[in-house]
Amino acid sequence: METRTLATDLPDIFKQAVSEACALLAAGEVVALPTETVYGLCADALNADAVAKIFTAKDRPAYDPLIVHIPHKKDLDMVADVPPEIAATIKKLIDRFWPGPLTLVLPKKACVPDIVTSGQSTVAVRTSKDLVFTRIIRTYGKPLAAPSANRFGSISPTSASAVKAELDGLIPLIVDGGACMFGLESTIIKVEPDSPKARITILRPGPITVEDLKLFGRVVVPGKTKVRGPTGPASIAPLAPEVPGQLASHYAPKTPLRLLESPADFIPEEGKRYALLSYRGEPDDGYIELVDWAGIQVLSPGKGKLPEAAVRFFYALRELDKLGVDEIIAEPMATHGQGLAMMDRLTRAAAKR
Ligand code: TXA
Ligand code: MG
Repeated sequence: METRTLATDLPDIFKQAVSEACALLAAGEVVALPTETVYGLCADALNADAVAKIFTAKDRPAYDPLIVHIPHKKDLDMVADVPPEIAATIKKLIDRFWPGPLTLVLPKKACVPDIVTSGQSTVAVRTSKDLVFTRIIRTYGKPLAAPSANRFGSISPTSASAVKAELDGLIPLIVDGGACMFGLESTIIKVEPDSPKARITILRPGPITVEDLKLFGRVVVPGKTKVRGPTGPASIAPLAPEVPGQLASHYAPKTPLRLLESPADFIPEEGKRYALLSYRGEPDDGYIELVDWAGIQVLSPGKGKLPEAAVRFFYALRELDKLGVDEIIAEPMATHGQGLAMMDRLTRAAAKR
């Protein structure tokens, strides 16, 4: 199949992209769309045959459930029920973070096909604030299932060209909305009643951080372990949480990747070529001069800003993966703010396949 890419940067061609995307969705096809986190591979969430095409194009196993997007935040009842015990907390979270990169796991409505939720009784829901995505889903008027638009287990795409590299020939249309605003997949949470505050479990760390969520309940991050941060004392990095689809090995480049705890952990082998994923490219951090790197990507030059690093994160991994080196070496990052999400992705990218 030919994969077309449609731009959106002028009013007329934007209109054309919206109408072509909606026509394909209505015909039960899949379409790759930009969101503020990463590009999503979208299909009508209430059409099981259309959703099946997402699994085929991504080569995604049936046990890995999808995220469902709703057109407006007021449309939550299209796909989910909110248990009364957590209704007040959910309302506050939605008021604060929607539209935006926060996904809520809630009891699903009967209309949501089992293929979307991998047979579970819960559905993961969010509403995007990307302008192109919003225009398309609101024109379409129905919920869209939208996992990241990459082949299963590989690096999430943060640009239309990255989607093309992943899914060329497998899907009919990519709508190009430019680079994604955040660059990391949404934070996924589950909310449970507790006293005095609700319990908020982070199933996947993302752009909405532990610090952001603390205002709304007691935040739990499953499976934490201690590692050393680049500049400070011991900090925290996550191990694989027990969530369906959150596999230990994921987000992986084709090149083997190793996440260091400190520069002393790296002893280069004779004849091997290495590339470095550096947080801020600062020689004083001790990584830049370890070896004659075949390539270096710096996530946030200078002082190092975690949100800037997040925007460049998957792009940088993709670029390093193109070099054909023997191994990608990643510097550790601090694990506050969006650092927690990047350390989670690096831990999974480094997991043995
Ligand atoms: O930012 C994002 O969330 C992007 C954009 C495109 O929306 N989507 C995304 O989807 O990252 P995906 O398929 O790459 O990741 C979805 C993950 C699954 O791997 C699974 O861990 C979790 O969401 N998930 C989905 N339904 C769930 C459920 N009912 N309970 C727990 N986790 C669920
Ligand atoms: Mg994904």
